[in-house]
Amino acid sequence: MELNRRTVIASAAAAGLAATTLGGTAEATPAGSSKGRKPVKELFGTLADGTKVHRWSLENGGTRLKVLSYGGIVQSLEIPDRRGRYANVSAGFDNLDDYVASSPYFGALIGRYGNRIGKGQFTLDGKSYQLSVNDGDNSLHGGAKGFDKRVWDVEPFTDSSGVGLHLHYTSVDGEMGYPGTLKVKVTYTLTRHGDWIIDYEATTDKATVVNLTSHVYWNLGGEGSGTIEDHELQIAATRYTPTDSGLIPTGELAKVAGTPFDFRHSKPIGRDIRAGHEQQVMAKGFDHNWVLDKGITAKPEHAATLRDPSSGRSLKIATNEPGLQFYSGNFLDGTLTGTSGRVYRQGDALCLETQHFPDAPNHPSFPSTVLRPGQVYRTRTVHTFGS
Ligand code: GLA
Repeated sequence: MELNRRTVIASAAAAGLAATTLGGTAEATPAGSSKGRKPVKELFGTLADGTKVHRWSLENGGTRLKVLSYGGIVQSLEIPDRRGRYANVSAGFDNLDDYVASSPYFGALIGRYGNRIGKGQFTLDGKSYQLSVNDGDNSLHGGAKGFDKRVWDVEPFTDSSGVGLHLHYTSVDGEMGYPGTLKVKVTYTLTRHGDWIIDYEATTDKATVVNLTSHVYWNLGGEGSGTIEDHELQIAATRYTPTDSGLIPTGELAKVAGTPFDFRHSKPIGRDIRAGHEQQVMAKGFDHNWVLDKGITAKPEHAATLRDPSSGRSLKIATNEPGLQFYSGNFLDGTLTGTSGRVYRQGDALCLETQHFPDAPNHPSFPSTVLRPGQVYRTRTVHTFGS
């Protein structure tokens, strides 16, 4: 940690930025302008095998983003409240060791398959595949060593679309049990309006399945500020995918009407979270895939709005994906200490993961997640912030 801090201060000084110490970590402080600035790279830590992990800081349109080469993790995302006061609205850690040892996917890129595949098994073109199983009987978020635990090649850019990073990772044939060499490129862009756009791209050399997403844990009051139960959420979905006790979809597309799953009109997350619906009891809250009414769209369309009435901060999500996993931070249990030194308890942050449906490879009626050689997997999710 000490070594890390010195290195960070040195690299910040070299980059001509002020170095400050916040809650035990040093960071390069942007000059405070809301203009785009070139991404700045600093050392964040070193993995056990000696690989160096860097943190990239970028800013545009009033949004400040910090991204790790490890897992493509959003380590911090700062936006202003209605009075212009900034807070980091993404839960995480202030050091690499905690990310490696105990992260529940904080801020990470998820692949090859976001969410669960039942028993880690599927059949494609008559061939059966056994994936790495890491969640009871099931495979979750790509298996034991998914994209969240890989070091990505990061390439900064500044162009007419904004300021951003290209993240590259090649997943070898057979990795975590998945067929085909998958070449993945994820682009994070901060636009001049302060939107954060994620573009996912992938190609394969054998037929495979892919479902990439991002696992940011939002708390618009600021990470570590307490519960998200007062946040108001709207999801543009008439149906959701009920699950079994292992959180694998049963295949039914159930109506949200008349259930706690009805977020068609904005409501506080806490309003119905204790309703005792059997689906909530199994998931310990909300941890389900909502079937977006818009379906798969050529361009990103509205999926959800999240608003924190006390700070005034808001987040709108648009995507071309057909599904949205809303996870209400049910497994946060007071054992992890977050970026600013406060412990995260159940419901202290929430995820809104744009995706195809969980376990789609085993449900022919769900939109397909199959990618074949010659095809390009391309999806986009746009995060628009307000206050
Ligand atoms: C996803 C899943 C949850 C949980 C979290 C990580 O959102 O749907 O069940 O596994 O990731 O803790």
